[in-house]
Amino acid sequence: MTEERCPKPFPTTQLEEADGEGHNSSANPTMGEIISRRFSRRNFLQGSLAVSAIAATVSPVALMTADKAKAAAVSAFSFPEVEAGVDAKHHVAEGYDADVLLRWGDALFPDSPEFDPNGQTAEAQARQFGYNNDYVGFVPLEGADDRGLLVVNHEYTNPHLMFPGIVTIVDGEVKQGSLSKEQVDVEMAAHGGTIVEIQRVDGKWQVVRDGQYNRRVTVSTEMEVTGPAAGHDRLKTSADSTGTKVLGTLNNCAGGVTPWGTYIMAEENFHGYFSGELPADHPEVANYERYGVPEGGYDWANFYDRFDLGKEPNEPNRFGWIVEVDVMDPTSMPKKRTALGRTKHEGAESIVAENGKVVFYLGDDERFDYVYKFVTDGTYNPDDRAANMDLLDAGTLYVAKFNDDGTMQWLSMVHGEGPLTQENGFASQADIVIETRRAGDLLGATKMDRPEDVQPNGVNGKVYVMLTNNTKRKDDQVDAANPRAENAFGHIIEIAEDGGDFTATSGKWEVLLKCGDPSVAEVGETFSTETTKNGWFGMPDNCAIDAAGRLWVSTDGNNNKATGRTDGLWAVDTEGDARATSKLFFRVPVGGELCGPLFTPDDETAFVAVQHPGDGGEDWDGHGRPSYYEDLSTRWPDFKDDMPVRPSVLAITKIGGGKIAV
Ligand code: FEO
Ligand code: CA
Ligand code: CA
Repeated sequence: MTEERCPKPFPTTQLEEADGEGHNSSANPTMGEIISRRFSRRNFLQGSLAVSAIAATVSPVALMTADKAKAAAVSAFSFPEVEAGVDAKHHVAEGYDADVLLRWGDALFPDSPEFDPNGQTAEAQARQFGYNNDYVGFVPLEGADDRGLLVVNHEYTNPHLMFPGIVTIVDGEVKQGSLSKEQVDVEMAAHGGTIVEIQRVDGKWQVVRDGQYNRRVTVSTEMEVTGPAAGHDRLKTSADSTGTKVLGTLNNCAGGVTPWGTYIMAEENFHGYFSGELPADHPEVANYERYGVPEGGYDWANFYDRFDLGKEPNEPNRFGWIVEVDVMDPTSMPKKRTALGRTKHEGAESIVAENGKVVFYLGDDERFDYVYKFVTDGTYNPDDRAANMDLLDAGTLYVAKFNDDGTMQWLSMVHGEGPLTQENGFASQADIVIETRRAGDLLGATKMDRPEDVQPNGVNGKVYVMLTNNTKRKDDQVDAANPRAENAFGHIIEIAEDGGDFTATSGKWEVLLKCGDPSVAEVGETFSTETTKNGWFGMPDNCAIDAAGRLWVSTDGNNNKATGRTDGLWAVDTEGDARATSKLFFRVPVGGELCGPLFTPDDETAFVAVQHPGDGGEDWDGHGRPSYYEDLSTRWPDFKDDMPVRPSVLAITKIGGGKIAV
């Protein structure tokens, strides 16, 4: 235990909110710079007002039709919009139910202990639903619409909301004390993922506790390393001389379900769990700097040497991967698929291309980092599940370069090609996947504004890239008319792969939407004029495509006095005159972020994950001070005095049944 970690600033675990400048020091142009150049070029060519240039950048198609008589824009979404705001509860559009399906601590097995917030143990937590639900996926069982496996990531833990007695006031400031080993063990068991059978009975979803596939994956679950980095010296530790066996998975943010029904858990902010120091001349120093390792946000190194760089210098190379879990075998060992690269993976959504290859889209969520895709060498076999089980071990990883003329290239990351050679420190493909970011730097990839979900849409053939924000903002630059600095609200890019082929190595792109508050002109948002005061949003993070091919966007970071609204789920038109019209469908309780979202194949249920509800509280007049276990801004969803706030997954259905949105 070191002095500087006790007591620590409060709160300590909001890694995504860290105000760092990112860790990319290469000279590659930022997406913001490219968009600016596009603005300038079009502005010059057209001699038009800046606002027209922005519109052109957003949608050349829209510009071409601008001189036509504007037909009434008809949104593809007819639900009555929720009123944006902030309070202690969740809100869904009128005519819908949003039912709590799974809360932190809920039983997943017949022998699961009842949740006891005052008597938490790692053993109990490992049999219960974990903390901070993020990605939500659904694997139908035997093709049924009303029975399947819900897979849910548990991204991270918020000790100040989870444990009584760890927050104190020191000299008028709120401080979080160090955790005990027992509390660290609970945290480690609260990470990972849940696989649980659910069924719909009389229109309502319920957990099947004795489901034969039910499973918890935690930081203690043994995993196998596969692909180019498996067995490499840089992955060997004192506990694993083979470099092929890793205990657990960290910070699983978004993810995916593959066409063959396996569960993908993306390891995102793994840097936060490591402490200690490497010797200055250690060969991994530059590698770890590029990933921000160590961040030291957790107390785990106090009790587990593998999280201390000074004691186990290679352990961070064993995280930051895409993990694949065979949900149909609860005894199977999850696999870290190193062919997909090592980054702060947001997620890995996939689609089968026309030629049968499977394409995974990957965002690396950090300021100035990159968008990737992975194309399998092999082809998907819909008739033989077993034949697909190692598709993720062989393929080509690409990183995106967005050009200022609206074209783009996917640059292959293959050893021996271009700058990815021994001369530049890449002795083999293993080095490229271990140092994926540096490989992207050398290839000249485009620095993005924090890539989150990247979602292929099989209905319209496009790919949607959520870029959540990139503030780089100093406090002294904030004013009332411009409450955030440059791109505080984020934007969404739409990619059309050349020839409509998801395996293509080039494509075209445009900005679907620049997000932000329309009442602040300087923000330069580009929602359609049909979008109401409730319909605008900032900080797009996760997204979903429903069976009809419509885009739904969930957000992370709208909670503050300036916006007067919480995060939520917005439906966004991408087609026709209504393009860039957005409507608020659901919003979270104060302090929460909305993750998930997922539509069942029949479009009759939307699952949403409310993450870190009750975190913060200073910015809401209803609380007005820090929120922690003993003084919470909300006790959602139970609203009982003896129950803390609990991250939860909700099932949204239409009252009386039917598709969510027609
Ligand atoms: Fe864990 Fe990038 O959101
Ligand atoms: Ca996310
Ligand atoms: Ca996020």
